[in-house]
Amino acid sequence: RRSLQSLDTLTEEEEAIREAARRFAAEVVGPKVREMDENEMMDKDIIKGLFEQGFMGIETSADHGGAESSFTSAILVIEELARIDPSVSVLCDVHNTLVNTIFRKYGNKEQQDKYLPLLAESKLGSFCLSEPASGSDAFALQTRAEKKSDHYVINGSKMWITNSWEAEIFLVFANVDMSKGYKGITCFVVPRSDVKIAKKEQKLGIRASSTCTVAFDDVKVPFENVIGGEGKGYKIAIEILNEGRIGIAGQMIGLAQGAFDKAVPYTYERKQFGQAIGTFQGMAFQIAEAATEIQAARLLTYNAARRKEQGLDFTQQAAMAKWYSSVVAQKVSGQAIEWCGGVGFTRETGIEKFWRDSKIGAIYEGTSNIQLQTIAKFIQKQYSP
Ligand code: CAA
Ligand code: FAD
Repeated sequence: RRSLQSLDTLTEEEEAIREAARRFAAEVVGPKVREMDENEMMDKDIIKGLFEQGFMGIETSADHGGAESSFTSAILVIEELARIDPSVSVLCDVHNTLVNTIFRKYGNKEQQDKYLPLLAESKLGSFCLSEPASGSDAFALQTRAEKKSDHYVINGSKMWITNSWEAEIFLVFANVDMSKGYKGITCFVVPRSDVKIAKKEQKLGIRASSTCTVAFDDVKVPFENVIGGEGKGYKIAIEILNEGRIGIAGQMIGLAQGAFDKAVPYTYERKQFGQAIGTFQGMAFQIAEAATEIQAARLLTYNAARRKEQGLDFTQQAAMAKWYSSVVAQKVSGQAIEWCGGVGFTRETGIEKFWRDSKIGAIYEGTSNIQLQTIAKFIQKQYSP
């Protein structure tokens, strides 16, 4: 079943990538969703398949082993994967929109030549910003990088790190000079062998996606592993998150569409009072509203993606897309359970999983309040006398 609507301006290549992601999600991911959720473990063959399909280097140049496609293609892949499993979707999202993008935008030639092919072909990446005492207040991070004659020594702990259980390349934000406040934050590449996974979280949703505390105990990092220069880390982090938020919006619209696709056919099969339940006006109007809300969220998301591609301002649009898509995902996946009655409440249909998974949209890559704060700042700037 195709999603309700497309963007008129999708290129043939974008359509083809979306189709490939749709097929991969249905055929390869679909059969494993429930088992992965119950076991709280990502299937290794799915990660391998994502690499083989070219979904792990979507914007990476062909020279570096990537698909050399557009940012919108990345969003479409994230959306399609989320229609089947938001956990697989976020794995691909973090890897592409956060990790690959940092190397492409801020890495020097040596770093790009070394890491981009690995990230496109086989090695999973993770993005380590949040800490136990700094989530929304991300720039208050306490992880230190002490400068020595020819290396840094990193000490500290990162919390909530997506992909960290399986990842081999870690991008770590640490402060090289606390006296400079957030202007001391610097971005480092750290290999798997130097990090310690301290704790794996058990979660309400996206349970197959790993979320761990990652500890750094006297980790020696050579100067050449600094990305973008000392003190540039805070800007790298937030500029990347501005883009990443469009990815999470994509994940949330995929999720909402996935729940809708599962529930709506049932409402035309199930009869009560001698009538298909989806044809009662009380149901039909809810379904119509939900379809419209998903489409509105999708258009906000695609618009933010296209603005970014065209070099236009997109921060406010990205915040709107992420905030609204998260609201819609939670609302529609909750309604989808109700549309199916008792059946929707069971594990059988997989609809309850979408609802559990939807909750994270309002939390990671900036909570809903942080998105609203970003939008409000733009409005204030525009309307203040
Ligand atoms: N875009 C660009 N620059 C921004 C910005 C934005 N959206 N928000 C702030 N900045 C810049 C400011 O311009 C300023 O820079 P200069 O000093 O160079 O001018 C600097 O950041 C500090 O600005 P503020 O004092 O206004 O910022 P703050 O300290 O109050 O908060 C913030 C800034 C930490 C970025 C906060 O707004 C924020 O976004 N918090 C959420 C953190 C977050 O998204 N974490 C996600 C972790 S990754 C993740 O979650 C992945 C996953 O789950 C899958
Ligand atoms: P807090 O910042 O303590 O927020 C708690 C509540 O207070 C929220 O409702 C928030 O909106 C509100 N609040 C805080 N400040 C304000 C304010 N100024 N105004 C109004 N309300 C406010 N981080 C990474 O670095 N990398 C990852 O890969 C990653 N993956 C994650 C995966 C999962 C499953 C989870 C749960 C988190 C992940 N995170 C990751 C961390 C995530 O980005 C943070 O959880 C998020 O930014 C919120 O931080 P916090 O949990 O400390 O909540």
